Amino acid sequence: MIIEVEKLRKEFNGIVAVDSISFSVERGEIFGFLGPNGAGKTTTINMLTTLIRPTSGTARIAGYDIVQQPEQVRRRIGLVPQEVVLEGDLTARENLVFHGMLYGLSRQQVESRIPELLAIVELEERADSKVKTFSGGMKRRLELVKVLIHEPEVIFLDEPTVGLDPQTRRRIWEYIRTLNTEKGVTVFLTTHYMEEAEQLCDRVCIIDHGRILDIDPPERLKHKVGEGEIVEIELTARCEEFVKELEEAGLRVKSARGCRVSVVAERSEKVLAEVFSLAQKLGTSISSISVREPTLEDVFIHYTGRSIRDEQGGDTRIKQIARRLKH
Ligand SMILES: Nc1ncnc2c1ncn2[C@@H]1O[C@H](COP(=O)(O)OP(=O)(O)O)[C@@H](O)[C@H]1O
Ligand SMILES: [Mg+2]
Repeated sequence: MIIEVEKLRKEFNGIVAVDSISFSVERGEIFGFLGPNGAGKTTTINMLTTLIRPTSGTARIAGYDIVQQPEQVRRRIGLVPQEVVLEGDLTARENLVFHGMLYGLSRQQVESRIPELLAIVELEERADSKVKTFSGGMKRRLELVKVLIHEPEVIFLDEPTVGLDPQTRRRIWEYIRTLNTEKGVTVFLTTHYMEEAEQLCDRVCIIDHGRILDIDPPERLKHKVGEGEIVEIELTARCEEFVKELEEAGLRVKSARGCRVSVVAERSEKVLAEVFSLAQKLGTSISSISVREPTLEDVFIHYTGRSIRDEQGGDTRIKQIARRLKH
């Protein structure tokens, strides 16, 4: 195990941000922390990368204790924090050299590693352009290889694709996979994008309010929600009676919010037939219906009763601001 975490805890002024969590990560894995804003993801990364001290508990990285041997730990890890930390007035190459020198590498040592690293993220041609001319996606790509300059065994990526468009996000996933397979580096990442966790991670740890809810490969997690598919129905009227009738007919209603109802289905054809005949019987109509595979979002709802999205939706933020303006 390259990361071994034991009862790691962090309190800020008596408020528990990370609640005595324990888990381990195997060498070569892409391991993801999935949870909403405020779950304790960044706090965990900050402790593991020795930026802040745990209140109690500890962890070992590549065999070294984060509290007792922080220097040894730092030499073996790389961190890409949530905010960009590149020097805009320096070129891509200069940023890499600068980073390498912080780790005690000579200019020649760094220069010899640069072509291969920039090639991984397809930035060779921009090696001598100033970073301030780069797009958000290009900066992220450069940061991914910047942390590889000192040849760490583990890299920590805090929300690596936040603020990027879906297409750029997918490309970043590809690069993360490539550096995991080609450089053999273990990846610990945090995200609140369920799709990112699902597509990229070998194992996902679901975290909420500083606690671990479950850890497993994405496929396994999804199967815990219930075998089969999910049928999502939207009705125009008589929604409560409809849900009651569905349950009486022995169907598994997963969630019902007003007129939006989800049903877990072992065989969706059977459920669809049942849904249509019930709607007809109640004299209501179906405004939309779809069948989909379960996602990690369903797993999160299964454990917490909430959606990951509810927590960080711009909506809530706007509502809060609106409320504040009224007062
Ligand atoms: N320096 C700090 N001082 C006080 N509270 C903090 C500090 N850093 C984080 N917290 C609190 O700890 C909790 C977890 O935060 P964080 O680790 O940033 O979550 P995440 O990265 O999952 O969004 C939140 O409630 C946050 O407000
Ligand atoms: Mg965070």
